[in-house]
Amino acid sequence: MSSPSDAKHTLINNRCDKKMTKTVLPATIIFLMLLASSCSNKETGLKDAFEGDFLIGTSLDARQILGTDKEAQSFIVKNFNSITAENAMKWENIHPYPGKYDFALADSMVSFGQKNGMFIAGHTLVWHSQTPDWVFQDSVGAPLTRDALIERMKDHISTVVGHFKGKVKGWDVVNEAVDEDGSLRKTKWLEIIGEDYIQLAFEFAFTADPGAEFYYNDYNNEFTDKREGVIAVINKLQQKGVKIDGVGIQGHWHLDSPDLNVIDESISKYASLGLKVMITEMEVNVLPTPPEVYGADVSQQAKYLESLNPYPGGLPDSVSNLLAQRYADLFSILLKHKDAVTRVTFWGVNDGYSWKNDWPIKGRTNYPLLFDRNYKPKPAYYAVIKEAEKQR
Ligand code: XIL
Repeated sequence: MSSPSDAKHTLINNRCDKKMTKTVLPATIIFLMLLASSCSNKETGLKDAFEGDFLIGTSLDARQILGTDKEAQSFIVKNFNSITAENAMKWENIHPYPGKYDFALADSMVSFGQKNGMFIAGHTLVWHSQTPDWVFQDSVGAPLTRDALIERMKDHISTVVGHFKGKVKGWDVVNEAVDEDGSLRKTKWLEIIGEDYIQLAFEFAFTADPGAEFYYNDYNNEFTDKREGVIAVINKLQQKGVKIDGVGIQGHWHLDSPDLNVIDESISKYASLGLKVMITEMEVNVLPTPPEVYGADVSQQAKYLESLNPYPGGLPDSVSNLLAQRYADLFSILLKHKDAVTRVTFWGVNDGYSWKNDWPIKGRTNYPLLFDRNYKPKPAYYAVIKEAEKQR
């Protein structure tokens, strides 16, 4: 495996060589020397290895958005060219009470992204989780009628998408609407409005910002039964002429699951519908996890047992190498599909920030990302860079 400095220099050299190969005139020599020196000083990161392939994103939480973590922002600018709010744009945060919107944190994230020329992804407009109970109730706590809930959803989507019009370039319009067996998930949205809530959400989003992209996002939607359900939802939207641009495969993955073939096949299937494919919330869990929580349903919790938290003091090399190999395999599939895959977003900037330390079991020490708790690249990082270099 190459060393950190090897990988960094290869990246710098690759970028600079392209600019330097032409024959130079004497008059431009000084200029080129300056350019060469600026190239050799230029810090490149993860995103640069995938330039021309797909965007590399990360989710951000308040500590990074507000800069309370002092190291975070320059690290993010170096390594990522797309950002997603981990929680700041979810209903419970951006629209906590009837008629009260709070854009402060999300606005800060958007201006950080704009300042640094990043693709800003919006997550998420219509979801069953992290949505307050009042959304589905009237002022005395009785369930809303279909018309009233449609009106409320319309107000939310037009206000939020309208607020970020031209700035947020793509929205997870509907999140996790399909169940494991491919049927529509039994949410309040479905119960009160009926199946067409999905279509209505996409239509309201389009009306609010016709220039943005609109996605359906889910976990486990690479597995056959659920995938068939998601494809049925997409087909219906497309038949009705509703604008849908892409599908997000969240990518809350494990060392041993899902099978690579399943991911490979799913990307092909979604792409064949004419959609962009994104991995929107990628990480690879390395801890033993009860099979019933091999998904990402945020309402699930499992009981803490010491046996389920085997590496509190650090990840053994043997597991770290397995993680590197798993990431290499995953990126080789993603690169194979680089015409369809437009963005790969990691769910967390480094291991310390991953939600997988607390979900589905609180208080564990997980290592699911490419950077460790001190922002140091892990073997998995170098394995991923190597995959990118292989195809050059
Ligand atoms: C998670 C966040 O990472 C946590 O901080 C929060 O407590 C719960 O939600 N699917 C999604 C994401 O679409 O929004 C979820 O994010 C993870 C599963």
